[in-house]
Amino acid sequence: MSPFAIFFLLLINSSLAANTNIYNVQNYGAKSDGKTDSSKAFLNAWAAACASNKPSTINVPIGKYLIHNANFNGQTCKSKAITMHIDGTLLAPSDYNVIGNEENWIKFEKVNGLSIYGGTFDGQAAALWACKNSNNKNCPDGTTALTFYNSNNIIMSGVKVQNSQKFQILVDGCHNVKLQGVKVSAPGNSPNTDGIHVKSSSGVSIMKSQIGTGDDCISIGPGTSNLWIEGIACGPGHGISIGSLGWKQQELGVQNVTVKTVTFSGTTNGVRVKTWARPSNGFVRNVLFQHIVMVNVKNPIIIDQNYCPNHQSCPHKGSGIKISDVTYQDIHGTSATEVAVKLDCSKSNPCSGITLEDVNLSYQNQQTEASCVNARGRVSGLQKPTNCLLKS
Ligand SMILES: *[C@@H]1O[C@H](CO)[C@@H](O)[C@H](O)[C@H]1NC(C)=O
Ligand SMILES: *[C@@H]1O[C@H](CO)[C@@H](O)[C@H](O)[C@H]1NC(C)=O
Repeated sequence: MSPFAIFFLLLINSSLAANTNIYNVQNYGAKSDGKTDSSKAFLNAWAAACASNKPSTINVPIGKYLIHNANFNGQTCKSKAITMHIDGTLLAPSDYNVIGNEENWIKFEKVNGLSIYGGTFDGQAAALWACKNSNNKNCPDGTTALTFYNSNNIIMSGVKVQNSQKFQILVDGCHNVKLQGVKVSAPGNSPNTDGIHVKSSSGVSIMKSQIGTGDDCISIGPGTSNLWIEGIACGPGHGISIGSLGWKQQELGVQNVTVKTVTFSGTTNGVRVKTWARPSNGFVRNVLFQHIVMVNVKNPIIIDQNYCPNHQSCPHKGSGIKISDVTYQDIHGTSATEVAVKLDCSKSNPCSGITLEDVNLSYQNQQTEASCVNARGRVSGLQKPTNCLLKS
């Protein structure tokens, strides 16, 4: 390298350093021994980064950091661009009672402009799942591992989130969130460990990610709009689900959701819309499921508007959620049961504008079946199983 080039590199380096303030959590007392509670150190590094007038970077070096509980609040931040660069692993307490009754383990709240690159968030929840799976009534409900709440302009890339007590990642009340190259994992028998739950949010995208859990890979709650999901490998788990919706009478709808290029492997459901059989003013509209591969999936395409476990709290009125304009395009592969398409819509609010285009699902090299109730729409291209929609 010529002296000239070196001079330039130094110049670029020093100007980067001048424009970004760097905060290393170890300088705030974080210990990478996996045993010392580093919550305060992380929060102090956050407070310093947040108080900066410039873009700021929080560095988490290699190692294991025990975090009891941390709420990173951005309400008073001066910095409009905080980056967390994580090489290490954040560990939740393995004694589930420490945070089992909290709502969150790690939470970002009222943050505007945050990027998280790399790192592992580990909920260490094996003991809690064992407690829950043993039908012990005294287990705590469990907490969500990583929450983004009332926050905007968030990027999370190359991050692993695993073994959460409950939901792994929650996006609630947020606008403009990009999750990409995320790896989410919990065992197939871990209860209620939804991979990513999105609600009351708009402009969220989830791309190129791998999700395996004991519940939905991605679940979509009331008040979600402009959601883009692309390039996901899902399994084990319960698939990608819009819902459960319609528990409440007054509920915000779900609209403009795209789910494309997803492979489901051995999941209970593929693409699902699920609503309680209860009165509600909510809705689901403008949804596209496209280029989906099913590998041994129990219910590849399913709308279930009669959700009512234990037949309790559903006053026989059907679901009030109105489902319309849902398109299934290029869905192929294998079903683990004979009924590969099940559209069980509300008697009080039938589904309308359902489109099935090029669906090719087989079961043990045999024909599959479709079952429709109160479902209207149209089909085109290949239809295996044979169409059962009422003409719209
Ligand atoms: C639907 O959502 C996508 C992002 O997922 C957005 O680009 C598009 O503009 C939205 N369409 C409408 C009609 O809002
Ligand atoms: C439908 O899928 C079966 C099994 O995967 C495959 O053998 C067949 O060629 C497909 N049909 C069309 C028309 O793509």
